[in-house]
Amino acid sequence: MKKDNYPRLVYLIALIAALGGLLFGYDTGVISGVILFLQQEFQLTNFLIELIVSSLLVGAIIGAIIAGKLVSRLGRKKVVILAACLFFLGTLIFTIAHSVTTIIIARTLLGIAIGASSFAVPLYIAELSPPSIRGFLVSLNQVMITAGIFISYLINLYFAEHALWRWMVAIAAIPALLLGIGMLFLPESPRLLYQKNKKDQARKILMAIHGERLTEFELSQIAVSVHHTLKRPPLFQKKFAIPILIGVFLAIFQQITGINTIIYYAPIIFKLTGLTSNVVAILATAGVGLVNLLMTLLAIRFIDRLGRRPLLLTGITGMVLGLLCISLSFAFAKPSPLLGWITAGSLFLYVASFAIGLGPIFWLLIAEIYPLSIRGRAMSFATMINWAANLLVAISFLSLLHYLNPPRTFALYALLTILCWFFVYFFVSETKNKSLEELEKRWE
Ligand code: BGC
Repeated sequence: MKKDNYPRLVYLIALIAALGGLLFGYDTGVISGVILFLQQEFQLTNFLIELIVSSLLVGAIIGAIIAGKLVSRLGRKKVVILAACLFFLGTLIFTIAHSVTTIIIARTLLGIAIGASSFAVPLYIAELSPPSIRGFLVSLNQVMITAGIFISYLINLYFAEHALWRWMVAIAAIPALLLGIGMLFLPESPRLLYQKNKKDQARKILMAIHGERLTEFELSQIAVSVHHTLKRPPLFQKKFAIPILIGVFLAIFQQITGINTIIYYAPIIFKLTGLTSNVVAILATAGVGLVNLLMTLLAIRFIDRLGRRPLLLTGITGMVLGLLCISLSFAFAKPSPLLGWITAGSLFLYVASFAIGLGPIFWLLIAEIYPLSIRGRAMSFATMINWAANLLVAISFLSLLHYLNPPRTFALYALLTILCWFFVYFFVSETKNKSLEELEKRWE
């Protein structure tokens, strides 16, 4: 079935829910600019800077755990609405904060919202999507994450001249409001409704978003899957070991292959190459954000046609090449404009390759591979691990640069990325064009 044959509603649902991704990206990216002004205004020590930056990540770990329990009880939709409220509240508190403690509380609240929405949104979209365009729709969330990061870099540039850091923070209230209000009008996941025995409502929603032909087929499949899931099976049991391990390993690999060393620290890396100007370093960072966004847009065009595996394997190969080039150029060239350009090129290659593979596909796969009975909890678990690995990389990167030196640090990330390639090659199978229920049968 072609994309155009589905009612527009299905695209609108994905777009509104993916505002959660926009906030994820924005709140992650904006701090790189805001922190410079906080440092001056509150005379921050390095420890306090790290605390402010990482409180968001700690919040995200907590958010992923709490939301894992709520997505099945309250429903996917209500969890996204709650996250939107927290996004709004956290933004408000941060905007008017006059002490470091208040800022840390606000960042933790924003983190909880990010942790919850980072998996509740892909989960919600996946359960409302027709199989043949599910990759495209779920990955809109990743497009929005990268758009959020890019927009935050631009907003930072815009307000930086007049040191208006409160405005940089406050802008996020707009998408938070839109997400909260928009979600009120969207339906709950038909799969969850069916599981809760609200079969008529589930049918109505499927009819509206998938059309008549697909509805009966999907309902019959959902019925079989729900039949197996009346009880709440324990998450950690032999039957689910393989999908749980795949989710956990992909979560770890998505982070320990180094993406956020670039997203969080690009200006520092550019300065190591000998680029002395702050402005050039920030502009180059905006370039990284743009490449990330454009390549993610490209990836979602192909994700349902080429499939997840080829994109993942190609993307990871490009990441290895990019990392090796960064490592070699640091090892053999002296800081100079030439090194600056070579490093920038290698960084772009690395980020572009992440954007067509591990970036969108990790979040997509964890929304696809789990059986309905454990989907919410299993996604929350993989997401929690992803944020914990993110925190680990964020707090260890600068020390690694110091103790190992830059060439060895990037060589280490290259080595981990090679391991990731083998992991995907041997353990990750294709999910394109299959209904969630067909995928579920694999584990039986
Ligand atoms: C990752 C984030 C990362 C972002 C960059 C996401 O898929 O989970 O950690 O910052 O991609 O685009």
